[in-house]
Amino acid sequence: MNMMNTTSGIKIQKFSPNLGAIITDVDLSKGVNDDQFKDIEKAFLEYQVLFFQNQNEITPELHLKFGKLFGELHMHPAAPSMNGYPEIFEIHAHKDSKVANGEFWHSDVSCDITPPLGTMLQLHILPETGGDTMFSNMYEAYNELSNKYKTLLDGLIAIHESEHLYKGRYDDRGVNKDDIKTPAAKHPLIRTHPITGKKAIYVNRTFTTGIEGMSKYESSSILEFLFNHCEHVNFQIRYRWNKNDMAFWDNRCTMHRAIWDYWPNERKGRRVTIKGDKPI
Ligand code: SIN
Repeated sequence: MNMMNTTSGIKIQKFSPNLGAIITDVDLSKGVNDDQFKDIEKAFLEYQVLFFQNQNEITPELHLKFGKLFGELHMHPAAPSMNGYPEIFEIHAHKDSKVANGEFWHSDVSCDITPPLGTMLQLHILPETGGDTMFSNMYEAYNELSNKYKTLLDGLIAIHESEHLYKGRYDDRGVNKDDIKTPAAKHPLIRTHPITGKKAIYVNRTFTTGIEGMSKYESSSILEFLFNHCEHVNFQIRYRWNKNDMAFWDNRCTMHRAIWDYWPNERKGRRVTIKGDKPI
């Protein structure tokens, strides 16, 4: 087993050759100390998505506190928040749900001018089977392009929108349609991670609707190629959740997709996102 020990005592085990790590020997319900934080931050940048296992349910307060260690929190522009906790998005699908969150490949809220750096999701209610989440490595997707295609993409600006997605989406969850925002933004199609300095493809099927300065036909042929390329199985992992696992993913260099294959069963948890920089 490729278990790595750290100075803080947390254990890190690579999840797959291309992406992810499992983190154990840290109890998030007790909070994290400075040394644990440093090891978690380092692992986050290296593995892009972390899965904290053997966890207890953490309180909303501690969840928010854990998120704030990485930066200011992000507020979702449209999704229902937990009562009394505007920065917590309750992920919940059950027999009466019309939609489940994140069913198509995306990087969270990429339609925002400053989209989230990372997302922390802890699931408390799981279906007996199913409800996995898939993640895809956008550094690898970039690296696998030919130099000629990289040159074509260099300097292109992608358009990200949300009205088509958010309008009416959460009506059945008590969200008043006048209270939602439907942001749109333009971001470099290839972004450079502000800390690792690595390049990643930054477009996704959920939010990206066009490329600046190109006709609909030109941009849709490039985007369709990139969506399919980024969703290639070689860049992916598929995570099967245990109750109270916490996943923490880097939206700047990964995409994800939640699989709603468990209807009419229930799946529920809490999600905290951390504000990121304007993509460069
Ligand atoms: C999401 O945040 O996109 C949902 C992820 C999940 O429910 O697994």
